[in-house]
Amino acid sequence: MDADDTIRSLREALAASPNNTALRQLLGETLLAHGHYEAAETEFKAALKIDGQSQPLMLLLAKSYRTQGKFSAAAIVLEQLVARGNDRARVDLARVLLSEGDVEQAVRQYKKALEADETLHDDELSERLGVGNDEFAAEAEIIDGRLRNLDGETSDDPSLVPIRSDIKFLNVGGLADLKKEIAKKIVLPMQQPELYKAYGKKGGGGILMYGPPGCGKTFLAKATAGEVDAKFLSIGIHDVLDMWIGKSERNLHGIFETARKHRPCVLFFDEVDALGASRGDMRGSAGRNTINQFLAELDGLTSNNEDLLVLAATNAPWHMDSAFRRPGRFDRVIFVPPPDREARAEILRLQLAGKPQEDIDVQAIAAKTDRYSGADLSAVIDRAIEAKLDEAISAGKPTPLRTKDLLKAAKIQRPTTTEWFAMAKNYVLHANEGGLYDDLKHYLKL
Ligand SMILES: Nc1ncnc2c1ncn2[C@@H]1O[C@H](COP(=O)(O)OP(=O)(O)OP(=O)(O)O)[C@@H](O)[C@H]1O
Ligand SMILES: [Mg+2]
Repeated sequence: MDADDTIRSLREALAASPNNTALRQLLGETLLAHGHYEAAETEFKAALKIDGQSQPLMLLLAKSYRTQGKFSAAAIVLEQLVARGNDRARVDLARVLLSEGDVEQAVRQYKKALEADETLHDDELSERLGVGNDEFAAEAEIIDGRLRNLDGETSDDPSLVPIRSDIKFLNVGGLADLKKEIAKKIVLPMQQPELYKAYGKKGGGGILMYGPPGCGKTFLAKATAGEVDAKFLSIGIHDVLDMWIGKSERNLHGIFETARKHRPCVLFFDEVDALGASRGDMRGSAGRNTINQFLAELDGLTSNNEDLLVLAATNAPWHMDSAFRRPGRFDRVIFVPPPDREARAEILRLQLAGKPQEDIDVQAIAAKTDRYSGADLSAVIDRAIEAKLDEAISAGKPTPLRTKDLLKAAKIQRPTTTEWFAMAKNYVLHANEGGLYDDLKHYLKL
């Protein structure tokens, strides 16, 4: 019996006795084990509605959140458990904190858990946190050595070697205003430095993009590099904080140095909220030192920013310290919306290029995919192609993609931006200081 069969029969059994929480828990665990994190979350929540005090269920719910990257939600559940003296929850909380970049707190929670119960020891977590490992000091040196490598041309970490970007603005569908803004601040000053100088104006200053997942933030950053034929260095802040425990300040400096060495270069910080957690945030995030280092590097750029462009992206701008938004730092905060109808048609056209197809009416598909992200549209196409392949295999001959195949796939592949908007709305309504999220507010017609 494969996983799908198991899941199906569990669901059938549950339909007969919907209040059987043990059964529902089992279904959730099976879903979780097979990567259906969101579906697992739904089951754990349903079970908790009946048995709200069950600590195992709460742990599982937190895990389903964590696997989806919903770290704050996971932390809230785990903190409740910790308050009730659940030491297992401390270990999971340490994992969440580590993912959020708060190594210090992660170590603290993990150590407390081990003090209470040695059997909670976890090899991988111990290693990543350097807990209960006498050789940690020696290891830090090696890590340090690897960092020093950053200054040279080679690096042990391939993600720290700038790449050449082969995509340009024209590969990005829609987002006309944002492209214009980037052009004004970043592209034109580089292409026509004399003109800018004549008006006594400087390019530079960073742009922070925010918005729901899959709508082209990362893609646009890469296209910016391609547009000006600059190198592209993309840094996931979570990686920076995870990999070099306690060394992230030096690490950050190394990254900026690498970018300077490879000018012209677009330096792109992804998931930058991990760094910028506001000081008011109880659980904190990256250490204050790391934040300060980052700010100092950014400030350094204003004096020495020629041909070094900084972009950043986040799903959660509300978690960022306002110090990041001072002039010369990320002084433009721009909402990257899901593509509108025209942009969806454009994205579909771009993504269908080169695939076997016949008379595809992209407008018709665009009309039926409101709120779909660019990534969702890719997924729709993938799904349609898979169905075509199945057909081709049984029919023994390939057939081209048609409009109806895509429309059918779009019915199954739902937009993934909905949840983000539900959450973002709260911030727009209650934390829109200085009109920071006005463009989002406008988009939501609030
Ligand atoms: N405007 C667009 N034009 C063309 N392709 C797009 C566009 N938006 C998204 N895509 C496609 O969707 C993929 C995912 O987009 P991208 O990774 O840039 O999203 P993101 O906003 O960075 O999401 P996340 O917040 O999850 O990091 C891209 O690689 C690209 O193929
Ligand atoms: Mg991205």
